Amino acid sequence: MNPEASPGSLRDVPTTGRPVPEAEPGLVERWRSQGGELVELLSRVRERCGGVAAFRLGPAPTVLVTDPQAVQHVLARHPERYVKRSHRARVLIGDGVLAATGAAWKRQRRLLQSQFTGTGMRRYEQRITEAARTTAGRWGEYARTGQTLDVGREMRRFALDAIWRSLTGHPLDDGTEREVGAVAAVAAALPTLPADVTGAQDAVAADLARIDAVARHAIEAARSGAPGPDGPGLLRVLIDAATERPEYTDQLIRDELVTLLVAGHETTATTLTWLYLLLHRYPAAREHALTAGGESPAQRRQALQALIHETLRLYPSAWILPRHVTEDDILAGGYAVRAGTDILISPYLTHRDPELWPEPEHFDPRRFLTPDGRPTHPGAYYPFGLGPRACLGLQFALRESTVLLEHLLPVHTVAFHSAPTKAVYGITVRPDGPTPATLQPPHCP
Ligand code: HEM
Repeated sequence: MNPEASPGSLRDVPTTGRPVPEAEPGLVERWRSQGGELVELLSRVRERCGGVAAFRLGPAPTVLVTDPQAVQHVLARHPERYVKRSHRARVLIGDGVLAATGAAWKRQRRLLQSQFTGTGMRRYEQRITEAARTTAGRWGEYARTGQTLDVGREMRRFALDAIWRSLTGHPLDDGTEREVGAVAAVAAALPTLPADVTGAQDAVAADLARIDAVARHAIEAARSGAPGPDGPGLLRVLIDAATERPEYTDQLIRDELVTLLVAGHETTATTLTWLYLLLHRYPAAREHALTAGGESPAQRRQALQALIHETLRLYPSAWILPRHVTEDDILAGGYAVRAGTDILISPYLTHRDPELWPEPEHFDPRRFLTPDGRPTHPGAYYPFGLGPRACLGLQFALRESTVLLEHLLPVHTVAFHSAPTKAVYGITVRPDGPTPATLQPPHCP
């Protein structure tokens, strides 16, 4: 490395690399003066400079990574060189597995991993199905009475019920649902909160107190009460871990519980909401998904999963994944990045790259049904991230989404009264507005 190098310079790079192409300052200035969304700036930076591109919002450059090889390099091949830094949701999720780092993260991940893969997942099958049946029952009532429902709210209720049953062994009750609403209030406030954790916690103290009360109650019930109808939930695993591992204090158990509630419901709920909005715009995709498999249950399931994957391609709920470079490195293309640089990886932009995905704005689930329908590089499609920090709930999310669609899609057509076409790019990418609708039997015009 050049010994004269100053932090924040892209020209002074490790000796073997070449500088990352940098967007001209005017581009950032124009974007700033127009009051644009971050996603617009990032799209322009990528268009101008390619899949590894730099821009400056302050004195130091940020590097945007969307090129599949570079994505794989950062997330999967060398995750130790690209780490998560103080997670902005820490105010809410504390030291839970999503925000934890180093040896603590490794231990926490190992304990949870066994619950969310292979045989571990089987114990949640019944709970997911019960949550889907409950939603299907409600939808049956909406259809019968002609009552208006909000699709986004319905999907949040379902996803929260599925994860709550899996954590506690009990169905979600109205009171808990209301109190867990505080999670959404804190999540919405996160971008405007002070940078230090204590200041941020003070600003949302009332909402945090509600969340803590829900967590405390659930932990006490799991410790002392009878298990739910489907046996004990995942919370019991955390409580049992505490008998052998002193690090599992009540505080850490609370942090893991809130982490799984946060990570495990808004993401799935927004995905399912986008899916219904996309079917509204592309009604033929629904017909195709329902008829594609013919009599074969496996093929029918594949067709539903293709709907989910194509939705996640266009709207990967975690649309941006920040990382911090810990040591000088060379990325795909020979681009050099220096220790101390902030990196933004965007599945949203990779998934809309026309060189990887022909007609990228077009919703076409068939991409995921034919072997050559999509690029096979792991860094070309990664809605659940890649590498050791990839989503713990991948199987859970796909399973619950598929089961819900199996219950709802053949029975109801959703007629939206108004359908938002724009997105809000917050912690997740979500529809910009309510999603009121009524339900019609299938094949209604
Ligand atoms: C469609 C739904 C979902 C999407 C798109 C999604 C996406 C993601 C992504 C992209 C990451 C990696 C973040 C990064 O690398 O910075 C992640 C991590 C995580 N997700 Fe999900 N997720 C979904 C559902 C779920 C569910 C249902 C759960 C729990 C049941 C869950 C639990 C987690 C946890 C605990 C992590 C942190 C893993 C770690 O840092 O070791 N997610 N998710």
